[in-house]
Amino acid sequence: MIDLRSDTVTKPTKDMLESILSAQLGDDEYREDPTVNELEEYCAKLLGFESGLFVTSGTMGNQIALLNHTNPGEEVVTTSDSHIKNYEHGAASFLSRIQFRDVKNTDGSISNEDLTQIIEASKIHKPKVSTVVIENTHLASGGSIVPYENIKSISDIAKENDMNLHIDGARVWHAILVEDKGYDYGSYTDSLTFCFSKALGAPVGSILLGSHEFIEDSREYRKKLGGGMRQAGVIASAARYAIENREHILKDHENTKFIYQKLKEREEELNLIETISYKDTNMIFLSFEDMTVSSNFIKKLEDQNIRSGFIRKNIVRLVIHKDVNQEDLDKIVDAIVHSSSS
Ligand SMILES: Cc1ncc(COP(=O)(O)O)c(C=O)c1O
Repeated sequence: MIDLRSDTVTKPTKDMLESILSAQLGDDEYREDPTVNELEEYCAKLLGFESGLFVTSGTMGNQIALLNHTNPGEEVVTTSDSHIKNYEHGAASFLSRIQFRDVKNTDGSISNEDLTQIIEASKIHKPKVSTVVIENTHLASGGSIVPYENIKSISDIAKENDMNLHIDGARVWHAILVEDKGYDYGSYTDSLTFCFSKALGAPVGSILLGSHEFIEDSREYRKKLGGGMRQAGVIASAARYAIENREHILKDHENTKFIYQKLKEREEELNLIETISYKDTNMIFLSFEDMTVSSNFIKKLEDQNIRSGFIRKNIVRLVIHKDVNQEDLDKIVDAIVHSSSS
């Protein structure tokens, strides 16, 4: 089975497993696990932050950031389709007791005008806006890269208005490796989370980055949420291996582009597919007339040993990752063509 439902389905490689076997371990609650400590330092340095905290998941990283940056009753600006707002089980209202102020968008960016208008409006009847969250890359639009210039200008406005900027960078390496600039996130954002378990290929774990003070407070929130760990070097060593070997992500992009281009070349055979979308990273979205057609398509693909999933009722998502091999690519294209000819 070729599993294209997500880039979270990857399995650890033999080398990654060997790195786990040789990891130096200690009790991370006492801050004595050298592998965890080194991972946190390495990631902080890599992206220009003072400090880092190893957390169990992207959701935990995002939610600790909100607990840190906000007070109950305040607002957080994010795009209407962001993960932090829609797909974290309502955790932000449950834990931080904030509400979101949406910016309608299609690609993850937030315009200067939209943010300025929201700040102005909040001065009369609306709550204080304390934080902005940008998701890079942006999942709901198909893995779009939010341009460095956009994040930078939102950061300037946030600073001028005494607001915090958090980056939900679950898949930020897709953006960093393609854009090849903006490595230094720590100099213009207050915090950032990225996941070792999405595309980078580790089995578990994410990191939260920020200032020394922010990370000290985050450590307490992590403990309150039950996220304190002991010999966490077992998983941190896999995470370290994953981040040091991140370049394969560019190969995943190449493979995704190959599939996209082949599908475009054969577009007249794709009777059931209305649009094919690809945003320069590791996802392809196929849209259909309605859910009956998209469900049938998913079943037909599965009959040919390819698993895919919905991102919306009529949109099927294919995510290319490191466990998709070169020889799988033509099989995937042929199976899509076969499943979408009526
Ligand atoms: C953009 C984005 N942010 C955050 C998360 C949450 O990560 P986790 O599943 O590790 O909690 C995800 C998960 O898919 C995601 O896609």
